[in-house]
Amino acid sequence: MRIAVIGGGPAGLYFAILMKRDRPEARITVVERNQPDDTFGFGVVFSDQTLETFERADRESYKAITDAFAYWDDIEIVAKRGNEVATHRIGGNGFCGCSRRTLLMLLQARARELGVELEFGRETMPEDFPDADLVVAADGINSAVRQRDLEHFAPTIDLRPNRFAWMGSTRPFDAFTFFFKERPEGIFIAHCYQYEKGASTWVLETDPETFERAGLGAMSEAESAAFMEEVFAEELEGHRLITNRSMWRRFPMMRCARWSKGNVVLLGDAKATAHYSIGSGTKLAMEDAIHLHAAFMRGGTVEEALARFEGGRREEVEKIQHAADVSLVWFEHIARFWDMPATRFAFGVMTRSKAITWENLSLRAPEFVEESRALFEEEVRAQGLPAVKGAPPMFQPFRLRGMELANRVVVSPMCQYSATDGMPDDWHLMHYGARATGGAGLIFTEMTCVSPEARITPGCTGIWNDAQEAGWKRIVDFVHAHGGSRIALQLGHAGQKGATKLMWEGMDQPLPEGGWPIVSASAIPYFPNSQVPREITRAEMDRVRDDFVAAAMRGARAGFDMLEFHCAHGYLMASFLSPLTNRRTDDYGGSPENRLRYPLEVYRALRAAWPSDRPMSVRVSATDWAEGGVTDAETLAIARAFAEEGCDLLDVSTGQTVADSAPHYGRMFQVPWSDMIRNEAKVATMCVGSITSADQVNTILAAGRADLVALARPHLVDPAFTLHAAARYGVRTACPPQYRWGQDALLRSAVREEAELMELRRKARPKRHAV
Ligand SMILES: Cc1cc2nc3c(=O)[nH]c(=O)nc-3n(C[C@H](O)[C@H](O)[C@H](O)COP(=O)(O)OP(=O)(O)OC[C@H]3O[C@@H](n4cnc5c(N)ncnc54)[C@H](O)[C@@H]3O)c2cc1C
Ligand SMILES: Cc1cc2nc3c(=O)[nH]c(=O)nc-3n(C[C@H](O)[C@H](O)[C@H](O)COP(=O)(O)O)c2cc1C
Repeated sequence: MRIAVIGGGPAGLYFAILMKRDRPEARITVVERNQPDDTFGFGVVFSDQTLETFERADRESYKAITDAFAYWDDIEIVAKRGNEVATHRIGGNGFCGCSRRTLLMLLQARARELGVELEFGRETMPEDFPDADLVVAADGINSAVRQRDLEHFAPTIDLRPNRFAWMGSTRPFDAFTFFFKERPEGIFIAHCYQYEKGASTWVLETDPETFERAGLGAMSEAESAAFMEEVFAEELEGHRLITNRSMWRRFPMMRCARWSKGNVVLLGDAKATAHYSIGSGTKLAMEDAIHLHAAFMRGGTVEEALARFEGGRREEVEKIQHAADVSLVWFEHIARFWDMPATRFAFGVMTRSKAITWENLSLRAPEFVEESRALFEEEVRAQGLPAVKGAPPMFQPFRLRGMELANRVVVSPMCQYSATDGMPDDWHLMHYGARATGGAGLIFTEMTCVSPEARITPGCTGIWNDAQEAGWKRIVDFVHAHGGSRIALQLGHAGQKGATKLMWEGMDQPLPEGGWPIVSASAIPYFPNSQVPREITRAEMDRVRDDFVAAAMRGARAGFDMLEFHCAHGYLMASFLSPLTNRRTDDYGGSPENRLRYPLEVYRALRAAWPSDRPMSVRVSATDWAEGGVTDAETLAIARAFAEEGCDLLDVSTGQTVADSAPHYGRMFQVPWSDMIRNEAKVATMCVGSITSADQVNTILAAGRADLVALARPHLVDPAFTLHAAARYGVRTACPPQYRWGQDALLRSAVREEAELMELRRKARPKRHAV
């Protein structure tokens, strides 16, 4: 077999090593345009987990790397605001740093020893190897091989706004250290770690406005290093910054639709990048090499091996890229978190990419988690609430106006599609009753419709007549009498999604018969085959507003503790807010202010009718997940506008406004918008969406990304989600006396099971590779 590798970076060299070791008969050439020791960059970092992968892949190079690395266990977060410096050190994060130059030299030596041909100082392309069975384009982020065939590889590049420069120093570190520093120009960040004796990497980062104000764009490499030396003078402790092609750049998030063409395959940075803030691109590049090698070891043709490589590796690369994207976005929004208490800020840094959570931090750094917990408890106490001593954030109380919640867990609104003529019946009593006895602090009703025409489906509940009001009162009374939950009424009007089938018969699909005429902000059908709604007239808008008010008054009489105004998911109010569903040319369409006008008018009327000591929330779709939809700035404006009208809480959902949206699902995927609204618009928020564990709930709350956390689907199968979670944390939540023995038993067994689980996790941790 004849293999040509273009580029002698970590990806190309490591692949050549693995292949030559296992296929000694293969002729493998690596061609590198630079000289052997002519390398840029300073250090690279690997986690314990990555080192374990390297150890399995090739013991020889693993040993050479681990003989030459610097190892640390802690992450240190140092934030300097004004004259105040806060330092947090979090242990249990085994990492090693190694000089990029040393790494490449070690890999070159290992490749040479195995018989790989190494050629330096020559730029090359696949056509230079007409007899090669396989050409590996490991030619880095600016890959000429990829760029020459854009149509095939179809890269998408998202150039991020923050500016960064890679520099070095001689200052030693015994922890991976993040410095955050406030200056008159803005906030500067340094990501620092030692990679060998007397040598450390300093990745310097700042937002575009600060970059501009500091005049960094106009400075030479040396001038910018001098400027950054001044910014981080104290942190450098007398050491200098060292440059090596340390130009300020913007990070390109790059993905390719295809990774190979014929016998040519892209590897490492050439095919996908991952932001430096979650570990080096070097890790990704070397793990790519391991997977490509494994794909060849399973036999078959070159094409088959390349298809196997892409098929087996893509998901993992995309996962790492997603975590990296979430992490880089956190650094872009640093100003949002700047005023938080230092402990919460540090908790946010640690948990920014979702990989680290409350519970795995409890394993690594119990004192830091205790500090975060105590801060939360202290803040709750300062609000005059009965804080639960020693309990994690999810079991701390919360107050909105006169409504006090025993904990932060919420049953999200969920249509049951089980009503006849809008009437809540035994099913609803059982459904809401079971969840109330299950311990959640707050329970939302399903979207309850303000008139028969406002229903989504024939099975939706309503609150437009006396019988329905009485039906709801029976449920509210039950909830108040048993367990400790409060209950909120969600009021809505289906708009464009009205007259559709029950969920299990075809979600949002039009009723074949028995439908009713529907209205929306504009005459745009949801699906091409949906009923076309009529553009709602001003007179009808008056009537709908009055229907909402009448329904709210019935809700107040029924005893609901809170009222939610549904302005999400493409229903009537949402259809006004999104430019994709609102094409009106009158005062209610066009500019964001115009689109907000009607929902705000209804909100005001509701607020006036709803008892002043009871809170109100608004549910929004913070993004449409579609080109041309609401922007983040508009979402913030919407949140601020409702808050100014006295809205107590934003219930932050996303999407479902247009059928051709493309959401990026994933764990806790909507939390970033809750974070944005809570910390920029300064309104209390509730987040929701693929949140499935108590661990996630605590992580979100402790990082200050929401005030309440709602779970929908998890509550369908586990009405007692909160009781189970409380037992795990040893907290006794409200529980009806009939069930108390069950709770006692759960508390006893859960504490033991939790200890066993923690022990298993401790054992499953990657071993430490420290020398
Ligand atoms: C300025 C800079 C500094 C960096 N510093 C660090 C750091 O300190 N730590 C860290 O972990 N990561 C660093 N990175 C990122 C890291 O280098 C990459 O993520 C990682 O090296 C990817 O490995 P690779 O083998 O895919 O690509 P690369 O390491 O980029 O290797 C590609 C190689 O191909 C060669 N090449 C390109 N085209 C041709 C051609 N036509 N013919 C022959 N040779 C060619 C290049 O010279 C290069 O040596 C840095 C990146 C840059 C741009
Ligand atoms: C069966 C079902 C019915 C739902 N009905 C409503 C509803 O009536 N009103 C509403 O605002 N959201 C409704 N939702 C959305 C949920 O409240 C929640 O935002 C969504 O399911 C994401 O949360 P999860 O990942 O915890 O399920 C419904 C979701 C489900 C699964």
